[in-house]
Amino acid sequence: MVGRFSLRIDGREISILSGEKRDIFYIHSSGSDAGQWEYQIEGVGGYAIDLPNHGRSDYAEINSIDDYAYYVSQAIKQTCNRAVVAGHSLGGAVAQKVYLDYPETCTGLVLVGTGARLRVLPEILENLRTAPEKAIDRILEMGFYRKGLEYERVREKYLKNPDILLLDLSLCDKFDLLEDYRNGKIEVDVPTLIIAGKEDRLTPVKYAEFFKNHIPNSELVVVEGASHMVMLEKPEKFNSILDSFLNRVLSR
Ligand code: COA
Repeated sequence: MVGRFSLRIDGREISILSGEKRDIFYIHSSGSDAGQWEYQIEGVGGYAIDLPNHGRSDYAEINSIDDYAYYVSQAIKQTCNRAVVAGHSLGGAVAQKVYLDYPETCTGLVLVGTGARLRVLPEILENLRTAPEKAIDRILEMGFYRKGLEYERVREKYLKNPDILLLDLSLCDKFDLLEDYRNGKIEVDVPTLIIAGKEDRLTPVKYAEFFKNHIPNSELVVVEGASHMVMLEKPEKFNSILDSFLNRVLSR
């Protein structure tokens, strides 16, 4: 059931991984691609984007999380028109911006291993410039609960293109909506599922609890035995949480 197709957005080819037709749209994390959601596409359905400059999508000049949100909103309009928007880490920042800037496309949010602010350890950014392998090993050590096949696959992906990982993490480092949630400027009024890996050291559970405390119609699930890469580390558990949320939200 897993397939691929391309869209044209402003003359650029944007690649989409797709499964059973379902109005959920997934956004990957820094330096990754749609393949990160393979288990969800297979088990739950929906659409996952290769952001510009990632996976099989074309190059585009990207200067902010807002630029990614523009591409995602256009991709949603061309695939399912409106969707529950699911994002991991950088993708979760993009999902928040899709909701805020293109509300007509977003019927719900799934915020996975992400935050309202995503500051990055300065040593990771610095090492990505000068000693990328060292930085990548540090990210993986903080982002996986255990080493294994998925760990090696992600490592390989990052090593292929450390520059794009650096660009993405630099954009995360500038992303900051914390005050806007705190002072009520941001009021999320769509159903929101928050998923966090209990052992996540890149975006700790504290970030997920912040969302829970500031988004009225939200539920938080903390997954044991998983870190930042929870959708890869505990795919069956993840899919059952997501599936039951979607059954409730999409049937309304
Ligand atoms: N949700 C809720 N609270 C948050 C938050 C979020 N998304 N982001 C930061 N905060 C809180 C912090 O916990 C801290 O609270 P405290 O003062 O009570 O401890 C405060 O806001 C300031 O934190 P921060 O903006 O992160 O600055 P810092 O100078 O304290 O720490 C880092 C900077 C980089 C050390 C820290 O952000 C970190 O360890 N980040 C995780 C590692 C990483 O690189 N992750 C990559 C994410 S893509």
